[in-house]
Amino acid sequence: MLITTTNEKKMKQPLFLFVGIIITLTASSYSIATPKQSNQDEVKTALDLTPNIENGKKLYRNCALCHSPEGWGNPSGRFPQIAGQHQKVIIKQLADIRSKNRDNPTMYPFARSTYLKGPQAMADMAAYVSKLPMVPNNTVGSGDDLKKGKKIFDDNCTKCHGDKGEGHNDDYYPRIQGQHYEYLLRQMLWIKSGKRRNADKKMVKQIEGFSEADLAAVADYTSRLKPEKSLLADHKDWRNPDFRKNFRTAPQVQKELNDIK
Ligand code: HEC
Ligand code: HEC
Repeated sequence: MLITTTNEKKMKQPLFLFVGIIITLTASSYSIATPKQSNQDEVKTALDLTPNIENGKKLYRNCALCHSPEGWGNPSGRFPQIAGQHQKVIIKQLADIRSKNRDNPTMYPFARSTYLKGPQAMADMAAYVSKLPMVPNNTVGSGDDLKKGKKIFDDNCTKCHGDKGEGHNDDYYPRIQGQHYEYLLRQMLWIKSGKRRNADKKMVKQIEGFSEADLAAVADYTSRLKPEKSLLADHKDWRNPDFRKNFRTAPQVQKELNDIK
C-alpha cells in the first residue's frame, strides 16, 4: 500500500499536467517509421532474465495513467485491458511498440527508455501485469450476430488463440477472451487494413477475407468468452491495493484540464 505524503500531494498536480500535455502532443509529433522487425534481441534478453515483481509494481505506476491501476483499460476500448495477458505477449508488444514495429503514438513516449529502461524493466513489468486479476465485466458488442461470430471464431481462430480465446504464452498468441469489444474490433480492422503491422501473416490473410460486419460479429463473440474464474477479480469494484485510492486516470486528468477555462 502506498502512503500519500504531503510532498507527493504537492507533486501530483504538475506530474499529471505534464502527462496530460504529453498525451495531447505526442500524436502530432510521432513519425511513422519504415516497417522494422520487432527487436527480437530485446525480447530474447528479457525472457532470459529473472523478473522482479516488486520493481514491476513500481514501474507500473506510469502505465496506470492510461491502463488504469487495475490494468483494466477503459470500457471504450481506447486503452486495452492488459491485466492477465501472457508475459511473453506483453514483452513482445512492448518491444514492438518501442521499435515502432507496432504504431502506438499515444503510448510511445512511455514505452521508451526513460520510463522503461530495458529488458529487465520489461520483464519486471510483464511479471506484474500478467498477475493482475482481470475485469469481470468487460464491454461486449450488441449481441445481434453471435451465431455467426461463433462460427467464424471456431473455424478460424482457435488454432492459435485457443477454444476460449485464452491464447498461448509460449507461442506469443495473445489472450483475447474478456477483452473490451471496441478494442478487439479496432485491432481486427487494423489487422485487415495492414495498419497493425506486427500482426501474424497467416492471421492477416484470414482476416483480410472477412467483411467489417463479420469482424464485428467475431469481436462480439470473443469479448463474451470468459477467462477462467481464477483469473478474474472477485467483483467489478475491486481496486488495486498497490495504488492510492485517489488515483486519477489520464482521461480523468484530461477532462479536468478541459474544464479549466
Ligand atoms: C498515454 C497512454 C498510455 C500509457 C501511459 C501506456 N499505454 Fe499501453 N497502450 C495505450 C494504448 C492507446 C494502447 C492500444 C493501442 C492500439 O490501439 O493499438 C496500448 C497498448 C498496450 C499494450 C498492448 C496490449 C495488447 O493487447 O496488445 C501493452 C502490453 C501495453 N499497452 C502496456 C503498457 C505498459 C507496460 C505501460 C507502461 C510502461 C503502458 N502501456 C503505458 C496507451 C498507453
Ligand atoms: C496463425 C495464428 C493465428 C490465427 C489463425 C489467428 N490469430 Fe489473431 N493473433 C495471432 C498473433 C501471433 C497475434 C499477435 C500478433 C502480434 O505480435 O502483434 C494475434 C493478435 C490478435 C489480436 C490482437 C490482440 C491484442 O491484444 O491486441 C486480435 C484481436 C486477434 N488476433 C484476433 C483474431 C481472430 C478474430 C482470429 C480468427 C478470425 C485470429 N486472430 C486468428 C495469431 C493468430
